[in-house]
Amino acid sequence: MKKRCGYLIEKYRDMGSAYTCRRLLEEAETAGLSLRMIGVEDCLIRPDGVYFGEEKLEHRDFAILRYKRGHVMEEIRSLCDFSYNSPACFDRYVDKYHQLKDIEGSGIPYPRYVLCHGASMPFAVLKEELGLPFVLKGLASSMGREIYLIEDEMGYDAALRDGACSATGPDKEALAQEFIAHSRGRDLRLYAIRGKVIGAMIRSSKDDFRSNVALGAEVKGVPITPKMEEIAKKLFICTGYDYVGIDLLFASDDPDDLLFCEMNVMAGIQGMEEATGVNVAGAIIGMIAEDFGI
Ligand SMILES: Nc1ncnc2c1ncn2[C@@H]1O[C@H](COP(=O)(O)OP(=O)(O)OP(=O)(O)O)[C@@H](O)[C@H]1O
Ligand SMILES: [Mg+2]
Repeated sequence: MKKRCGYLIEKYRDMGSAYTCRRLLEEAETAGLSLRMIGVEDCLIRPDGVYFGEEKLEHRDFAILRYKRGHVMEEIRSLCDFSYNSPACFDRYVDKYHQLKDIEGSGIPYPRYVLCHGASMPFAVLKEELGLPFVLKGLASSMGREIYLIEDEMGYDAALRDGACSATGPDKEALAQEFIAHSRGRDLRLYAIRGKVIGAMIRSSKDDFRSNVALGAEVKGVPITPKMEEIAKKLFICTGYDYVGIDLLFASDDPDDLLFCEMNVMAGIQGMEEATGVNVAGAIIGMIAEDFGI
């Protein structure tokens, strides 16, 4: 059987000891897939193709995407027959507004929100709409860096000055969201493969309302519940993800009272593997190998 080969599309070819890359390469080797790291910021596009140095990149069977956007990423991806996540899913759901828009009517509950043009939306309107405090966030994933808790008008102006809405494009749009106080500094991260939850962990921060691991939150593995499965399945039906990190907020003491915060189409796996002992990289590579009948 022909050995299947893929590109792991990252920022740089040499991501050093980046956990998720290292683990995916290890599991690909074990599964008998040839997976090669390609750095978007190491490549250039000539009219006749994608070049890494003097080497013209060749066709491959599949790509694993770990770089958000841009022509170079798209050109490398287009050398591959399949990409994980798929272009339709990846390109649409790197944007948080698309996530909320497409789960509308799915039965997955979410905090009240408004999308606004950050630079000109008066504080009073958002205060009226969402109460205080409210959360202001950019549309792209930021590992918590572009997530602001707005307690008053001064805080709002400071967040806008600080680039709360810098993430996406010239429109400077932002999401203003009801603050789920019950989930202050604590949330639930699920890892799911095509609608099936493979791991769940609680992330908790001692001194921040945000519970990103990148901001120092601690993680603890928790059992997977039917409610978690239900949300992951519904989200799969809405978005068609191959693999995803799902962030959920605790709306009350009832463990099933969960609200959708966001989905992450290129979520890191270190926290989940360490908190649960689940071989997440193996599950992702296993899905790809199965697709090729290996
Ligand atoms: N509406 C909210 N109410 C309470 N806490 C929130 C709310 N929105 C976000 N948070 C907290 O802030 C954290 C970061 O928010 P979010 O996941 O939307 O962005 P992000 O982490 O920057 O994105 P990514 O995880 O893709 O990098 C969440 O994990 C949660 O702890
Ligand atoms: Mg998040």
